[in-house]
Amino acid sequence: MDTLIKDWDGEYVLCRYDKAAETWIFIAIHSTALGKATGGTRMKSYLNPNEALRDAMRLAEGMTYKFAGVDFPRGGAKAVLSVPDNIDHETRTGLLKRYAQLLHNLNGTFETGPDLGTNPDDMALIAETYPGVFGCPSEAGGYGDPGPHTALGVFSGIQASCEHHFKSSDLSGRSVLVQGTGSVGRPLIQLLLEAGCQVKFSEMNPIRVEEIQNEFNLPFVEPEAVYAEPCDVFAPCATGGILNSETIPRLRCTIVAGGANNQLDRPEDGESLYQRNILYAPDYINNAGGAIYLIAVEAMDWSNTKARERVIKIGETLKMIFHESAKQGISPAMAADQLAKEKIYQAKT
Ligand code: PHE
Repeated sequence: MDTLIKDWDGEYVLCRYDKAAETWIFIAIHSTALGKATGGTRMKSYLNPNEALRDAMRLAEGMTYKFAGVDFPRGGAKAVLSVPDNIDHETRTGLLKRYAQLLHNLNGTFETGPDLGTNPDDMALIAETYPGVFGCPSEAGGYGDPGPHTALGVFSGIQASCEHHFKSSDLSGRSVLVQGTGSVGRPLIQLLLEAGCQVKFSEMNPIRVEEIQNEFNLPFVEPEAVYAEPCDVFAPCATGGILNSETIPRLRCTIVAGGANNQLDRPEDGESLYQRNILYAPDYINNAGGAIYLIAVEAMDWSNTKARERVIKIGETLKMIFHESAKQGISPAMAADQLAKEKIYQAKT
């Protein structure tokens, strides 16, 4: 744990063990250079507290780059609640209430929204004690699940990537493989079908596989076959770390543009994709739509239309990144990092 924190370039990590729910809570504040520390609350069971801490720190860093990359005045942070397997409903509710009290005691240091393992109802529960949350359901005065807005941004990112690579943003007839059909994957499938894409999907959860097949009647790709499946666009919308030294050599896509956080296992993996001539839309730019939308409408008083337009602008940012990548002969992943780092550096000086 000590080396993890020593080697991290973030500001600080808040750590607490919740005895009643046997849960480690880590709130990683990566950078407040551009604004208030903001990021989702992830609830998941991890192998050990170190893995949870590592995830919180990496995800917090991702949030810093996300806000900086899309020029949004917020700082990067993330909370991870490392719960035991099969936590029961009552224990989970108690945990969220104590977590809300912790956030309240932190006096607005960290503002949060839904992430993997948490949902709008959880945000409403937190909001009873602490108002600094995004994505409450409409009954509780919020705009709900950010997933569809993230999907809109990913869609605009896929268009921009196709425009860059195929010289046409028209998606009709393009084959797109969506990995994961959760709150982002599912609305993304809908947008892609409306645009005339040939969509295939992969999903680990058998119940969801059936739901998607019943609703859309799409070809299903087995999870273990997903990387070697030929397609124009591969859109990872599940968990992170899936682009690595084992999967990248097997890819048979032209573009990777999805909604998952931390898709690259290590920074070098961005270079491997570039060397393989696969166009990679950097995840934290491509998936910024949910956070942008919710913060804009809930904290900045923007209209729905204005916020959606801002989300769609993600495509423009990506085109700029692809352009820089081509101009400098560096990978898009590196070009995006450069752009974000410049923004943070400018804010500090
Ligand atoms: N899951 C969101 C993201 O990674 C977290 C979030 C939602 C943050 C809403 C802020 C507001 O971007």
